[in-house]
Amino acid sequence: MKINGTPYRTIWPTPDAVEIIDQTRLPHVFATLRLNTMRDAERAIRDMQVRGAPLIGVTAAYGVALAMREHASDTVLADACNVLLAARPTAVNLRWGVEKMRALLAPLPESERAAAAWIEAARIADEDVAINAAIGQHGSEIIRAIHQKKGITVNILTHCNAGWLATVDWGTALAPIYTAFDAGIPLHVWVDETRPRNQGASLTAWELGQHGVPHTVVVDNAGGHLMQHDMVDMAIVGCDRVTARGDVCNKIGTYLKALAAHDNGVPFYVALPTPTVDWTLQDGVKEIPIEERTPEEVTHIAGLCDDGQVRTVQVTPQGSRAANYGFDVTPARLVTGLITERGVVKAEAGAMRALK
Ligand code: MRU
Repeated sequence: MKINGTPYRTIWPTPDAVEIIDQTRLPHVFATLRLNTMRDAERAIRDMQVRGAPLIGVTAAYGVALAMREHASDTVLADACNVLLAARPTAVNLRWGVEKMRALLAPLPESERAAAAWIEAARIADEDVAINAAIGQHGSEIIRAIHQKKGITVNILTHCNAGWLATVDWGTALAPIYTAFDAGIPLHVWVDETRPRNQGASLTAWELGQHGVPHTVVVDNAGGHLMQHDMVDMAIVGCDRVTARGDVCNKIGTYLKALAAHDNGVPFYVALPTPTVDWTLQDGVKEIPIEERTPEEVTHIAGLCDDGQVRTVQVTPQGSRAANYGFDVTPARLVTGLITERGVVKAEAGAMRALK
């Protein structure tokens, strides 16, 4: 996608390193960052300079490649995989990316690993772009159908950031929106701010704005009200892990939106690349470990001050405890359909087997 007219991906290799867009500085500062070592990649994932399930997976793959450039022994490969796997717990794409690298590299002689790792990481990145473009095509047909029925602007609600910043390019939940918008279908996006880290307010709003897509930021609790008043035609969210029976783990607050959508007859779609399915799990509520992050993300908030400086302020009383659950699970029964690169399927074990 473009930033001020220049095409960018969220991650790209240079001759001796990997570069990323530092997402912790958006929307107020656009800055890129160089990852020179596997530890740099691990830190970028842990500190959310890169985030979003697919991008985390690709960054981890490049992390393994960076480790192999320093030393390509079995021990270094095993250590790199373990360190990267522990960087963030929820997104299954992290494990998928790391295990793909391990499976390719482990049987190779040490002398061949560095070159092979670099090629494989780039291939995984390209694959992500192709997958998301296909998600965009399939999902845009749903938006088109709503437009044809309704005849006026299609209002779509989204949560967190599952746009191109969460992937290598295009995004998952936002790919259908970009594809439909580019095809001339009139649409408008309700952007949940997504406390505590505000990925909606800072990242989704920014990238939609860069592409010229009409959008409005709302507080996380507004969705139910909008749906009750016929102001939402559909919801599309991304996800970090989907179980074999279609339970969906995504950013905290997704479940409440799905409940409100169900109560109001609003179609609730989840967009995902098939590597986001964790075929080893069934019951998402019981089986998916949920990331708990630092309470400071709840007690404090950062923003642009009138003097042009970004500062952090405290919003809670001194001494109040805060809990910070990063994700929740939406049961399959609340999901209208899963938009994948292979088409739209029901969130249900039988239908999902076709994605294996
Ligand atoms: O904590 P984050 O910002 O990594 O969470 C991201 C999300 O929840 C996204 O919706 C999800 O990863 C899908 S990204 C295409």
